[in-house]
Amino acid sequence: MTSDVPLLSIADLHAGYDGVDVLHAVSLSMAAGEFVCVIGANTAGKSTLLRTVSGLVSARGSIRFEGQELVGRPAHRIPGLGIAHVPEGRHVFPDMSVDENVMLGAFSVRDAADLGRRREHVLEMFPRLRERLGQAAGTLSGGEQQMVAIGRALMLAPRLLLLDEPSHGLAPKVVDELHDTFLAISRSGTGILLVEQNTALALSVASRGYVLESGRIVLEGTSAELSGNDAVRSAYLGL
Ligand SMILES: Nc1ncnc2c1ncn2[C@@H]1O[C@H](COP(=O)(O)OP(=O)(O)OP(=O)(O)O)[C@@H](O)[C@H]1O
Ligand SMILES: [Mg+2]
Repeated sequence: MTSDVPLLSIADLHAGYDGVDVLHAVSLSMAAGEFVCVIGANTAGKSTLLRTVSGLVSARGSIRFEGQELVGRPAHRIPGLGIAHVPEGRHVFPDMSVDENVMLGAFSVRDAADLGRRREHVLEMFPRLRERLGQAAGTLSGGEQQMVAIGRALMLAPRLLLLDEPSHGLAPKVVDELHDTFLAISRSGTGILLVEQNTALALSVASRGYVLESGRIVLEGTSAELSGNDAVRSAYLGL
């Protein structure tokens, strides 16, 4: 594959629920290994956008992943293409151990050596999980449960990681830790599409961003440009 094929290219996307569109003519593009964020207020349609990429919401328009059209594909075909989605909220299986929760992400991997390498990669990203491998996931702190959810997604060895509001409800110190982890995941070459209400966090980790308002992209730019934009500063950064 040539490197000029975008990792993800969304064009004129309309999507919603029960015949009512939530996303209107959304276009967005990212290159392989890029770290891009979508910022927006409550109900802007951020989660709907990620769910649409994952095939969970029906759509009109185009979503190309490495050149392949995703619109019309069933949701269960999406992870196998190399896209992992960490949904809103921290979904762990509370009675299963940390290790079991993480390993669930690799249910489709048969090769034991490959499994071991992926697990090691996840534990390098999240040293705290290594210390708690046998602990029931339901007894972890909120931040640690988020690490399990992200670690499980990384077991797919995705080329695109969709992160939905990972900082929600976490203490500032834990958010700082996640910040460093996101950068480490990004440096390892994984493309990340992060949606966040925490604009300061999103713009501090992503290199580029889009602003979604009422289902429309109203602004895009580098994180530095968006951080310096007066409208973004007053509406999203409280400055
Ligand atoms: N399953 C659903 N059925 C019907 N409407 C839905 C459904 N999920 C979301 N919506 C509606 O779609 C709109 C966008 O919701 P979405 O969850 O995508 O927003 P969001 O930007 O992720 O918000 P938040 O920051 O609160 O997570 C909202 O008006 C919401 O009520
Ligand atoms: Mg949401």
